[in-house]
Amino acid sequence: MDNSLNEIKVILKKYNQEHLLNSYDKLDEKNKNILLNQILNIDFELINSLYINTKKKETECNDKIEPMDYLDKNKLYDDYKYYEKIGKEAIQNGKLAAVTMAGGQGTRLGHDGPKGTYDIGLDSHKSLFELLCDSLKEAGKKYGVTIPWFIMTSRENNAETIEFFEKNRYFGYQKDKNLFFFIQGELPMVDMEGKILLDENGLIKEAADGHGGIYEALVKSNMTDKMKELGVEWVFIGGVDNCLVKMVDPVLMGVAIDKSVTVACKSLVKANPYEKVGVFCKRNGKPSVVEYTEIKKEMAEAIDENGELLYGESHILCNLFNIKAIERMGNTPLPYHSAFKKAKYIDKNGELVVPTSPNAYKFEAFIFDAFGEIDDMAVLRVNREEEFAPVKNTDDEGVDCPSTARTLYENFHHLKNNL
Ligand code: UTP
Repeated sequence: MDNSLNEIKVILKKYNQEHLLNSYDKLDEKNKNILLNQILNIDFELINSLYINTKKKETECNDKIEPMDYLDKNKLYDDYKYYEKIGKEAIQNGKLAAVTMAGGQGTRLGHDGPKGTYDIGLDSHKSLFELLCDSLKEAGKKYGVTIPWFIMTSRENNAETIEFFEKNRYFGYQKDKNLFFFIQGELPMVDMEGKILLDENGLIKEAADGHGGIYEALVKSNMTDKMKELGVEWVFIGGVDNCLVKMVDPVLMGVAIDKSVTVACKSLVKANPYEKVGVFCKRNGKPSVVEYTEIKKEMAEAIDENGELLYGESHILCNLFNIKAIERMGNTPLPYHSAFKKAKYIDKNGELVVPTSPNAYKFEAFIFDAFGEIDDMAVLRVNREEEFAPVKNTDDEGVDCPSTARTLYENFHHLKNNL
């Protein structure tokens, strides 16, 4: 240990992070080992360059942005049945798995616990996890299979998530048979001077590495091997906070298979040209998502010959990947973006600092940053009222909040039951 401690001191000196050992002597043996291991696993060059990036001014983007082609699910006419048949057959043959990304912190919602445990206030008081599970079970029944379900948690919420499922008897699923949990990666948080933070236990303060961490997490935790053992070829990846997410969609599957693409994404037409959502586009000839902050007024308002917005297909975190694409992306680094957040930490005097405003940077990868690498993609426009009821904010915000999601969910199910 002495050797590695000396080695670590040299590394910390080199990167100006010597404060990380300030409380080392006060830690018990177990935490001493954890801290040293954490330090040995930090890519200091990466963290340093990410911190430097936070200081850089946004430069004018010179990427060539062009509209992305899409199919409209409502305008497939005879092809609808054709795609549906192909997809249905693949689903019935057990080729599909569902992944729910539930590792986020849900800071905007502010719920005390993993977001998936949140009750949006339906009469049934079902949690988001149960609503998602209901839709999987319903589809499983329809197609005569059990859709294997993979749930990505973070180190922060993993134990609580599993405990919640256990308490609810896994909603009828079977852990380690058709229900699997895996933990996403993390990166250290840094303060405004680029110093890595220590948490309340004197350990490195780390935060989940964003939904773009999904690829690496699926591969590193051997979930892709598990999927292959189960005969899975296609993987639907969605968020935990859209209570209308349609994870089993034969038409989307059929499009992906028929067009031999490695990813097929669902889109929604923007509610208005200025809606603050990322939209599908081609960036330097490759599939991408352009953030609303990058879209100038003329671009936002541009329309095609049918009067439709040229950049109107919003990305809603509903993407179907071929398992080979996930394996490839699991070994391909994605860029990280920084977010300025509030983070409790232990300062150099050993005092706990509880900030009232953002004080630290967290680094995250975005799932759509892989699209350019994946390259071949189909986009399928679906209906908002059938597939999108996000729970992001508190009811005070009035949008994408529990009350709006509840109404959308109830309306959809009311309609469906009356068909
Ligand atoms: P959001 O970007 O909306 O983040 O995540 P969030 O954590 O839910 O909420 P805020 O921004 O802190 O308020 C979209 C989806 O991606 C998952 C979330 O759980 C959600 O399902 N996600 C996000 C992860 O699984 N891991 C992450 O590191 C980030």
